[in-house]
Amino acid sequence: MNFADKLIREHKLNREEYIGLLQQFEQENAGTGMENNSQQSLFRQSAENIGRVKTKYNAANGEHCSLANYLAAEAVRLRQEIYGTDVYVRGLIEFTNICRNDCLYCGIRKSNPHTERYRLTKEEILACCENGYDLGYRTFVLQGGEDGYYTDERLADIVRTIHSAYPDCAITLSVGERSYESYRLLREAGADRYLLRHETANPEHYRMLHPAELSHANRMQCLRNLRSLGYQVGAGFMVGSPYQTTEHLADDLVFLQEFRPEMVGIGPFIPHHDTQFADYPAGSVKLTLFLLSVIRIMLPHVLLPATTALGTMDPLGREKGMLAGANVVMPNLSPVKNRKQYELYDNKICTGEEAAECRGCLAHRMNTVGYQLVSDRGDCKS
Ligand code: 5AD
Ligand code: FES
Repeated sequence: MNFADKLIREHKLNREEYIGLLQQFEQENAGTGMENNSQQSLFRQSAENIGRVKTKYNAANGEHCSLANYLAAEAVRLRQEIYGTDVYVRGLIEFTNICRNDCLYCGIRKSNPHTERYRLTKEEILACCENGYDLGYRTFVLQGGEDGYYTDERLADIVRTIHSAYPDCAITLSVGERSYESYRLLREAGADRYLLRHETANPEHYRMLHPAELSHANRMQCLRNLRSLGYQVGAGFMVGSPYQTTEHLADDLVFLQEFRPEMVGIGPFIPHHDTQFADYPAGSVKLTLFLLSVIRIMLPHVLLPATTALGTMDPLGREKGMLAGANVVMPNLSPVKNRKQYELYDNKICTGEEAAECRGCLAHRMNTVGYQLVSDRGDCKS
């Protein structure tokens, strides 16, 4: 069965077919120096099962290419058909690193005593927006830990103020799990979009990455609540997170296919030295790129960032992300004095650069692969 062609033709596969597609990819990359990958046991397993015969695909020009390149070409074709060579920019404001949660993989988890905690004032947040607006950004992403200081009233007030100061901009929130009523108030205050990665679609895997207080069921309920309130919703997961298997990744793909989020954020897992996963291997860049292509083909209109984690694992990660089907970048707008403190994982890039430097850097990087940053809200075209 040719899973790649079926995916291209039908924009969907079932769970077993996704497993087959992922195993074909693993087989192609087995023993090819897939450094940084925590999928090694899977590679061994699939290499034994399937043997090492490399599948060849015919590229548009008639030449043979790998499965990854074959799907990347189709992903880029779809992306360009819908979004041209435009790259949407999201100004990311990391406004608090205080968090009530203890996600096992996360550097700002509450039980990390070494994180120096901070919280931006409303004025500081507005200064970030002003800076971002001047740089041409028309979407602001307010991201933070689950910080109890930001009650519905306080956060809604900030959203309302940004909304009235920049009525031509989209406001995206990324502040974790909150009640339906809270999401409703924030939506009413002017928030347009919400990023809440599902982290893993498999409940057992979810339990291996999170403390008992957090549940997969509540995560999913939050995503449905956000959807029903009219937010453009972003889901996503880490590639190569601890204990992740091929089956888990297939579950993630099936979930995305059914839920059809407007935005999907994926990036390699990167260990943080102060977490219990400090010694776990980071996720694979190649697998992340392959999954970006699969997701683009599955959801052709999706807003798909080449994430900072991808840029951290590979100096050309974000450029490669574009060439795999991504169409969004999320440069940092946070005050430089706080950047190092929002360290979800080790060696995060862009912690010393001013916002304008990141803007210039990304503009150049995107140009090198034939794309250009645009000053636009960057809504989902569908
Ligand atoms: N490596 C990579 N990504 C991480 N995230 C959190 N910790 C890490 C890490 N160690 C991701 C999670 C979260 C998003 C904001 O950052 O998927 O949803
Ligand atoms: Fe920040 Fe390149 S994007 S320095």
